[in-house]
Amino acid sequence: MKLVVDNICKNFTNNKGTTLSVLENINLTVKKEEFVALVGPSGCGKSTLLNIIAGLMDSTSGQVYFSDVENGRSPAMGIVFQDTGLFPWRNVYDNIAFGLEALNLPKPEQMDIIEHYIELVGLKGFENSYPHQLSGGMRQRVGIARALAINPDLLLMDEPFSALDAQTRTIMQEELVALWEKTKLSTIYVTHNIQEAVLLADRIVLLSRRPGKISRILNIDLPRNERENPENATIIANFVDAIWQHISKDARAALMEVEDNG
Ligand SMILES: Nc1ncnc2c1ncn2[C@@H]1O[C@H](COP(=O)(O)OP(=O)(O)OP(=O)(O)O)[C@@H](O)[C@H]1O
Ligand SMILES: [Mg+2]
Repeated sequence: MKLVVDNICKNFTNNKGTTLSVLENINLTVKKEEFVALVGPSGCGKSTLLNIIAGLMDSTSGQVYFSDVENGRSPAMGIVFQDTGLFPWRNVYDNIAFGLEALNLPKPEQMDIIEHYIELVGLKGFENSYPHQLSGGMRQRVGIARALAINPDLLLMDEPFSALDAQTRTIMQEELVALWEKTKLSTIYVTHNIQEAVLLADRIVLLSRRPGKISRILNIDLPRNERENPENATIIANFVDAIWQHISKDARAALMEVEDNG
């Protein structure tokens, strides 16, 4: 299975009738077992692109499709939102059950799946807790378990850890790496944290702002489980630095544009 994002453009028209071009000619493929991070400044259209890929929003032009589908069925997508999107009136178990309910699985099979993912994300013992009784990191784990439980072909994550404190975020990143090594799910991960992208992704897609265009794609050719190794600290720092140089050049160019127009 391969996700193909083919020349996606997206315009928004505000209530004064002015049209804003948010995404321009986005071309991207995500291969099987590939982890792609989408990095760009606030407002560059990352969530818009993710929503279009998820089928939650229409594009103005272009298309998103899957090629090389192996089993003939239309691929399923698991989505983890920034604010987790959990139902406050459902406990952990029932929140994870949500996506499975639509699949009409026999109850015992559904139970096995839910228990498996509760275990996988380390929430055993919290099945009956409600979202308000959990920490931010635990809520994110419920969101991740819910997305994984439907056995998606593609996992879409929109800044899932951005609301967490730095320590919890580091722990969750490490857990995500471990989880990813077990599932190897094709993933698109939105973040504006460069360090996080370099630790997690096989490829990093940089989006520029106004209009959102792909400005660069980088391969992080270092095995994921060696990236925290102090011996590789310089390599990681060089990647982070290269991306920062690239993005800050973009930001300066945008600033000049504003000054010229003003
Ligand atoms: N429904 C909408 N109607 C009009 N404009 C919109 C709509 N959704 C997003 N936009 C505009 O499109 C641009 C991109 O928004 P988007 O949420 O995709 O950015 P983002 O890269 O995810 O930003 P952030 O990092 O802050 O989450 C912004 O300028 C935003 O104001
Ligand atoms: Mg966003």
